[in-house]
Amino acid sequence: MSDERDLEMLLTSHFPITTINTHEEKRALELMKKVVTRTARTMYTWSVTEGLKAAYGHSADNLRLQDDSEYMAYPTTEPKPMLEQVKKSLENAVVVLLDFHPYLNEPLIIRLLKEIALEYSVKQNTLVLLSHELTIPGELERLTARFSLSLPDASQLEQLIFDEAKVWTLKNQNQSVKADRQAMQMLIRNLQGLTMSDARRLVRNAIYHDGAITEDDLPAVMKAKYELLGQGGVLSFEYETAQFAEVGGFKKLITWINHRKVAFLQDNLQAKDTALDMPKGIMLLGVQGSGKSLAAKAVAGAWEVPLLRMDFGALYNKFFGETEKNIRDSLKAAEVMAPCVLWMDEIEKGIATGAYDSGTSRRVLASLLTWMAENKKPVFIVATANDIESLPPELIRKGRLDEIFFVDLPAQNTRAEIFAIHLAKRGQQPPDFDIQRLAAETDGFSGAEIEQAVVAALYAAHARSTTMTTQHILEEIKSTQPLSVVMAEKISALQRWAEGRTVAAN
Ligand SMILES: Nc1ncnc2c1ncn2[C@@H]1O[C@H](COP(=O)(O)OP(=O)(O)OP(=O)(O)O)[C@@H](O)[C@H]1O
Ligand SMILES: [Mg+2]
Repeated sequence: MSDERDLEMLLTSHFPITTINTHEEKRALELMKKVVTRTARTMYTWSVTEGLKAAYGHSADNLRLQDDSEYMAYPTTEPKPMLEQVKKSLENAVVVLLDFHPYLNEPLIIRLLKEIALEYSVKQNTLVLLSHELTIPGELERLTARFSLSLPDASQLEQLIFDEAKVWTLKNQNQSVKADRQAMQMLIRNLQGLTMSDARRLVRNAIYHDGAITEDDLPAVMKAKYELLGQGGVLSFEYETAQFAEVGGFKKLITWINHRKVAFLQDNLQAKDTALDMPKGIMLLGVQGSGKSLAAKAVAGAWEVPLLRMDFGALYNKFFGETEKNIRDSLKAAEVMAPCVLWMDEIEKGIATGAYDSGTSRRVLASLLTWMAENKKPVFIVATANDIESLPPELIRKGRLDEIFFVDLPAQNTRAEIFAIHLAKRGQQPPDFDIQRLAAETDGFSGAEIEQAVVAALYAAHARSTTMTTQHILEEIKSTQPLSVVMAEKISALQRWAEGRTVAAN
């Protein structure tokens, strides 16, 4: 309804050119028709296949375009003669140019469009450019107004699901579609940000194979939605999230995350609890191999939301020179996917402020900080880093992120947990091993090194055709030089820095 009103206002606002940037051509055309019907104007459409046609309007019947002898020789499927014809013979018309974007870099075409636009006060012809992508040349910018179709809201999406369920029922001998309330709510939440026709397609797929809407449909819907956003490269959808049960230690982080689950998903609750601030994000800072990446995945797993990973390498490489646009687009896509976790792994590599920087990473950082300050959508950032030297101070200043967690080398009891996790993961019975002894012998080992000791011991036992015992693992431990020894200075500098500035994750 409000789309109609807005478009009507635009068409009467004396802007000679209007753009509609959308994939939903059919819906946009129907809307145009509705609006033009109420005026005394005639609507024409043009496409490269069909040329110029009267689509609707008061003088549509006596359209004489085709008989105009001067132009007979040139079919109106060619943009140039078509525009010349519009310029010469139309008045009080709305001309919708479908997929005209490829011609918007030809000087002659641009000039013709401009001439038609400049005659607006005399002839009152409005040009509407309707395409999925439009870049308006500078010459036309001031003559152009933009219109965008609104996206469906929750109640429209609910209606859409009912409509699709009805269709399914009709096609399937009147069986009704099974749907549980919770899954419906989550589906509606996940469809927000999509256009009507995309949402319809996903709903249809979800119902199609089993005539039911269940929570099992949601991952596929989220993945399909992510693909529709066409973020290829910069943002990736991580199918594999993790559970905190697979992570040893991180006790304080786990409590912190569990306490904020309700607040993070609060727009999803009936009675919105406005007393709780929406959590914005955290940084996990710590030693290499200490499980930061694993914990980041577990945040998404614990909250049961999609995990999106930002790849800074691709951010800088893809379309050279468009880095800031890339980050803005990615952040926008993350908003559409909300609620979600946006994982920025090894963030220092993306926005390091080294001496050789051309200033691009400064601007990326600025875009990121601005977005963080303004964002109202439930997009939770989990940034990981292991080098403080190159971390820009603005990012870690209080108030930007909710908390900076320091992930230190695991203490003995955590090491025991990590051993148990990785033994169990590889089909071993943890009680068969002297886990306390293993934990005691691995002072200074990271989680990744503990995992490696288990993996290597399994190989060694296999080579000797025996089952693995504590002894095999102890041998691997003895031959390992942990990073904490190799990089002792670096690690103790990190620990000193973290003291007082960060909260322990454990
Ligand atoms: N606390 C832990 N609990 C269980 N497994 C762990 C833990 N820490 C590390 N691991 C194991 O080590 C692997 C590597 O850890 P991860 O990649 O998460 O470390 P990281 O802190 O991100 O390291 P880096 O700084 O090098 O990126 C994990 O996939 C996991 O199997
Ligand atoms: Mg990592």
